[in-house]
Amino acid sequence: MSKLKVGVIGTGHMGQYHVNVIVNIAQAEVTGCFDADPNRLAEISKRFDIPGFRDMDELIEKSDALIIAVPTVYHYEIAKKCLDRGKHVLVEKPMTETVEQARELVELAEKKNLVLQVGHVERFNGAVMELKKVVERPFLIEARRLSPFNPRIADVGVVLDLMIHDLDIVTNLIGDEIRSVSAAGTSAFTRHEDVAAAVLQFESGCVANISASRATQNKIRTLTITQEKAYIILDFATQDIDIHRMASQAYLMTREELKYRQESFVEKIFVHKDNPLRQEHLHFLACITGEQEPIVPGYKDVRTLEIAHSILKQIHG
Ligand SMILES: NC(=O)c1ccc[n+]([C@@H]2O[C@H](COP(=O)([O-])OP(=O)(O)OC[C@H]3O[C@@H](n4cnc5c(N)ncnc54)[C@H](O)[C@@H]3O)[C@@H](O)[C@H]2O)c1
Repeated sequence: MSKLKVGVIGTGHMGQYHVNVIVNIAQAEVTGCFDADPNRLAEISKRFDIPGFRDMDELIEKSDALIIAVPTVYHYEIAKKCLDRGKHVLVEKPMTETVEQARELVELAEKKNLVLQVGHVERFNGAVMELKKVVERPFLIEARRLSPFNPRIADVGVVLDLMIHDLDIVTNLIGDEIRSVSAAGTSAFTRHEDVAAAVLQFESGCVANISASRATQNKIRTLTITQEKAYIILDFATQDIDIHRMASQAYLMTREELKYRQESFVEKIFVHKDNPLRQEHLHFLACITGEQEPIVPGYKDVRTLEIAHSILKQIHG
């Protein structure tokens, strides 16, 4: 079967990882890359030995599919251009700045029978893929995604930058029927919110407590789930899942005092650890060739963005 011709638009921090992965995927032939910054374009084109296009339209024309890793404010405009020209699109998260833009892109892709995938790379984290097998009617979900400040992402706040990953994971895990949303946030370094905390109550009764920060002097990416017979701890960075289960609990009466004893054991789940970005690309290509169905349909991506915007509304009014 002939290889799919893939181009990369935007070769900054995330774009370089996309190039690094796609050049090593046998099913793809890299047409080249484009970046608005000619120095960056020259650097990446040289580092990976791929053509650097000075004209984005030419790269789009020569490709079957485009990976878009430009700042979020340009996602809509560039993804629309690619879809209009009949090209499949893998656009970085968040899909767009607004819900209306996302809806328009999803409808356009459907109308033209094109694949439009959002770069929610955590979906392809080995631990997240395993999680679906162990989660059963959770009561409480706590997600924490905390990072030190990095001035690179200045066009959107932490909700669209980081929290969107956890909104995507949580809603794909337990559904998106939400009874209430409450949230608060504050800015630390930018004009947007750099810290945000949201509490979502789902129709199932489950409560999700989601915190995101880009003002923390440590990098933490964890998800914990409390359900009837287990407490599950997922670490996105190490791709590990630990499940705590209660074995027994008892009160012990000694001569001096009453003691509480609790016995639990921890199960370590076997996780197949691959590069999640590579898995993301393989899924994108397999959806284009029809070998796989998108693991998350477009309308769900729109819904996740809607939830993010209801959190932003609570924060900014
Ligand atoms: N999936 C993830 O985990 C993850 C992680 C980081 C960033 N991202 C996303 O990737 C996107 C890019 O973020 P980044 O950290 O790589 O930013 P960045 O600033 O490092 O890179 C953006 C690149 O796009 C180029 N660019 C700007 N405007 C352009 C335009 N109109 N046309 C072509 N090129 C243009 C810039 O010159 C720069 O090289 C953002 O949407 C961000 O949310 C996703």
